[in-house]
Amino acid sequence: MKKRSLALSMVYRLIEPGPVVLVTTADGTRLNVMAMSWHTMMDFEPPLIGCVISDRSFTFDILRRHRECVINIPTVELARKVVRCGNTSGRTIDKFKVFGLTPIPATYVHAPLIDECYANLECKLVDSRLVAKYDFFVLEVLKAWIDRSRKHPETIHHLGMGSFMVPGRTFKLPSRMK
Ligand SMILES: Cc1cc2nc3c(=O)[nH]c(=O)nc-3n(C[C@H](O)[C@H](O)[C@H](O)COP(=O)(O)O)c2cc1C
Repeated sequence: MKKRSLALSMVYRLIEPGPVVLVTTADGTRLNVMAMSWHTMMDFEPPLIGCVISDRSFTFDILRRHRECVINIPTVELARKVVRCGNTSGRTIDKFKVFGLTPIPATYVHAPLIDECYANLECKLVDSRLVAKYDFFVLEVLKAWIDRSRKHPETIHHLGMGSFMVPGRTFKLPSRMK
């Protein structure tokens, strides 16, 4: 066998779901945005999305208190800004201003949509039972926005250690999965 043991701390690099998203929140006076790649779909309709958001982040504090956010899906042109949003905290800077992102009012939540992102999901927190143990938030998508003019959006996928990829070729198979 050619395979070698892989450090358990590296497992996430194989399973990492995509795409990297930008989570926006609003605390009444301030807007914030952070990068997030640890998320998973949990149901189709209404769409449920589970997210791990560290209790060290400003986003965690705002989301737990205000119970709403927007998941914004960026494409590769925004990659540098996305990483900056993941390397800094809204506790000390206004990331919208510093990184030149445009907040747009959402319909159902106070958190803003990011105009530059090709899709935006307005979400409310519907289950916080796993927050204390795992920093795991279950969000329900209330409204979804998409720029349909983008036929092949090059989303950003995190491979860890500063490596990213964009989607490659697509192909069809007779899958029974929706
Ligand atoms: C590509 C990338 C993916 C990230 N994914 C997550 C994640 O899934 N969960 C998380 O808690 N932090 C994640 N982070 C780190 C947060 O974005 C980072 O802690 C950020 O500074 C929090 O900002 P805030 O304090 O303004 O909320 C990621 C960072 C990067 C660069």
